[in-house]
Amino acid sequence: MIKSMEHAFSLAGKVVLITGGNRGIGKGIALAMAQSGADVAIMCRNENSAKETLQELEAYGGKYRFYSGDVTSQQDAKAVVDQVVEEYGRLDILVNSAGIANPYDPMSEDEDLSGWYKVLDVDLNGTFLMCHYAGLKMKEQNYGRIINITSNSSRIVNIPQKSCSYNAAKAGGDRLTKCLAYEWAGYGIRVNAIAPGYTESELVTGVKDEGETMGWVDYWKKQTPTGRFNQPIEIGAVAVFLASEAAEQITGAVITIDGGYMLAR
Ligand SMILES: NC(=O)c1ccc[n+]([C@@H]2O[C@H](COP(=O)([O-])OP(=O)(O)OC[C@H]3O[C@@H](n4cnc5c(N)ncnc54)[C@H](OP(=O)(O)O)[C@@H]3O)[C@@H](O)[C@H]2O)c1
Repeated sequence: MIKSMEHAFSLAGKVVLITGGNRGIGKGIALAMAQSGADVAIMCRNENSAKETLQELEAYGGKYRFYSGDVTSQQDAKAVVDQVVEEYGRLDILVNSAGIANPYDPMSEDEDLSGWYKVLDVDLNGTFLMCHYAGLKMKEQNYGRIINITSNSSRIVNIPQKSCSYNAAKAGGDRLTKCLAYEWAGYGIRVNAIAPGYTESELVTGVKDEGETMGWVDYWKKQTPTGRFNQPIEIGAVAVFLASEAAEQITGAVITIDGGYMLAR
């Protein structure tokens, strides 16, 4: 219950685990949550980029650690959740930001179908595994907040890239969010999703303006009514809100942040 507006948006004393917290949107969320008083644990595979992010987080005076793990591994998901609870004493908030977005053409005659399976594995199965192991701890605490970073792609067809595996995985992420929100509300666990549109991160800035991907970034920007992409910290600000006391009555929501990209679709 909100006791005062002064504290309604604070995450002081909360422990958050952010998958993919080393860069891009996950890093934006890590910085926003650290500035709001949370202790932050980051899970990803690249230790070097995580070290840089931890150095930046140190400016905010909390407790920050890196955990090496692949979200597609059941063993890693369990081990990281267990380590965080052991070293921080509890786990209040899980943010699932780890994700990949490889384009995939289902009309390709290539026998290698990994373009389909890989995206589903990271973006949907990885999110599920982390929710599962964090959820078990949160049930014991009778307290938990889960935020899944899905995408506005869960509800549209992307142009010009072919991305049925990504869109299907993100649609699954939105539906998983709603099912868990309903099923876990009685355990004190709120589950929400943030569905960003194009956001300044390697996932977008890494797309080259040449060859097959020529003109893509320009097209996406022109289709965005506000005329620019999201900044990762803007996703972080909404994640802070969803994790905070101010959002106590919000569960099963999917909040779109896309500068109006979806409005005319
Ligand atoms: N950028 C956008 O325009 C946009 C729009 C909508 C939704 N999203 C979603 O937002 C999330 C973050 O994307 P981003 O833009 O920040 O992309 P990014 O900069 O490419 O970051 C992806 C993150 O996921 C981690 N990751 C990837 N595979 C992993 C695995 N198997 N296990 C653990 N960590 C893994 C990466 O760390 P390591 O490589 O070190 O493991 C990295 O931290 C994704 O779910 C993405 O689908 C992005």
